[in-house]
Amino acid sequence: MIDNSSYLNYCQSRIEVALQRHLPSLQRLPLELHEAMHYSVMTPGKRIRPLLVYAAGHAFGAPPETLDNPACAVEFIHVFSLIHDDLPTMDDDDLRRGLPTCHVKFGEAVAILAGDALQSLAFEVLCDGDIDASMRLKMIADLACASGSHGMAGGQVMDLTATGNSLTLPELENLHIHKTGALIRSSVLMGAMAAPGEKQQLQQLDHYGKCIGLAFQIVDDILDITGDTETLGKTGGKDAAQQKTTYASLLGLPQARERASQLYDDAVAALDAFGERADPLRELAKLTIHRSY
Ligand code: IPE
Ligand code: IPE
Ligand code: MG
Ligand code: MG
Ligand code: MG
Repeated sequence: MIDNSSYLNYCQSRIEVALQRHLPSLQRLPLELHEAMHYSVMTPGKRIRPLLVYAAGHAFGAPPETLDNPACAVEFIHVFSLIHDDLPTMDDDDLRRGLPTCHVKFGEAVAILAGDALQSLAFEVLCDGDIDASMRLKMIADLACASGSHGMAGGQVMDLTATGNSLTLPELENLHIHKTGALIRSSVLMGAMAAPGEKQQLQQLDHYGKCIGLAFQIVDDILDITGDTETLGKTGGKDAAQQKTTYASLLGLPQARERASQLYDDAVAALDAFGERADPLRELAKLTIHRSY
């Protein structure tokens, strides 16, 4: 049995191996598409969403090997969303995870298709694995909802529509909950679903996921102002340059930080009944708030 403190380190190496295993072989056609998928996935991301799957599963006693597939699925959806988010028609970014963005390296058409293929791969991977079939079906439904028009894709449309227009705080919060919060919340729920048996305290865990999801995007908005491009691995100052309404632009940095910290407190309080099995979730909540990129 791995102790709580080393559990996340263990999962960090585990997810890299699992992602590599599920990606299509680089020897198989179409080579350029597969290369683009590998390029975007295997670059050094923080892997927060897969780690949330492992940590939530751990809180309910799910063994890590049953969590590999949902952890990979959510990272594939996330990377698909990043590839498309960076396209010229969206945020038009040329740097991601410290490297040229997928469309800069492979061209727009291949980048769009690499995103599409990663989205399909996510659900293919989720269909498989050592979890009860009815639970797998629930995971598929949850991830589909979190990434579609009622989740991430819907939030991205709100983001594009709002660009250049100012938003009220409730409107901005709703946008963030959709474009970023939904996938993070789904990561937490899928981890819980992977555990066999009755799940007491699922609502509390869901509340944790909601708080962390929103806090994650508030911190992303703060870092866009305070971070430097090298540390971020993506171009800093983009939100102001593109006239995006963010927490920091609406409330100022101190209040945006205060809101993120309130959400952290709320998230951690929701874990009270879990005991030390939720320590990895507590650690990830801290990382969400106190990260530098
Ligand atoms: C960036 O996500 C996009 C947002 C939803 C804010 P991450 O900050 O998790 O990016 P990676 O995966 O570590 O590159
Ligand atoms: C991206 O939000 C959210 C998704 C990719 C769904 P941002 O546009 O703020 O993310 P970054 O700052 O480019 O990573
Ligand atoms: Mg964006
Ligand atoms: Mg962006
Ligand atoms: Mg951002």
